[in-house]
Amino acid sequence: MANYSTSSPSSQSSKLLFRQLFEKESSTYTYLLADLSHPDKPALLVDPVDKTVDRDLSVVKDLGLKLIYAINTHIHADHVTGTGLLKGKVPGVKSIISKASNSKADLFVDHGDKIHIGNLFLEVRATPGHTLGCVTYVTGDGPDQPQPRMAFTGDALLIRGCGRTDFQGGSSSQLYKSVHSQIFSLPKDTFIYPAHDYRGFTVSTVGEEMLYNPRLTKDEVIIWHLNLPYPKLIDVAVPANMVCGLQDVSKDPAKPLSA
Ligand SMILES: [Fe+2]
Repeated sequence: MANYSTSSPSSQSSKLLFRQLFEKESSTYTYLLADLSHPDKPALLVDPVDKTVDRDLSVVKDLGLKLIYAINTHIHADHVTGTGLLKGKVPGVKSIISKASNSKADLFVDHGDKIHIGNLFLEVRATPGHTLGCVTYVTGDGPDQPQPRMAFTGDALLIRGCGRTDFQGGSSSQLYKSVHSQIFSLPKDTFIYPAHDYRGFTVSTVGEEMLYNPRLTKDEVIIWHLNLPYPKLIDVAVPANMVCGLQDVSKDPAKPLSA
């Protein structure tokens, strides 16, 4: 179990800066979190997209933040992660992904690990089912941590939906168990911030999804037969994301985006 930290803990109260950013082609949300009470204003990005790295970095710069981590909830199949570009543009940034994803990154996390930015931290919860290596990052539980808590669920739990389970080691029954044991067990006022939304929703709560999520509210495991098309970017995005997005970006910038 790892414990990543940028500073030794102090008694200073943490103060969260939070921004939800959107990439329209893949309908991906990227989240920026920082501890404003720490002198360095350390920050991390959850699920950055290659196409919007400059936009993300402009916010980081405008707000005087120090980006230290670029983290992914899983190996994405619909876009190339921005972590490789971020590492190239901001020296010292470290990429993080779950060990179970079998991907390359600077740091790997397991269920139960904590990722610190200043005095704030994210707890890692393994939520496999959409992919084998999916994790949900949940803001810390404690007096100095944001309340209500916030869960960055990736594709494990979407607003009124969930990620597909028919590739990348997916399993409907495993996803159902993951969501119920690791996300629906959080306080009902916990905010749900997914990796995507295709209808304009931006945030939900655990209580709301327990009531209204059509795929995850039933008593039994439901095997979904959604007949979804093959993801058009999967053959490019998955190999690129397995190596932190750095694979073809420098050699052939058009390739990751044209398939
Ligand atoms: Fe995904």
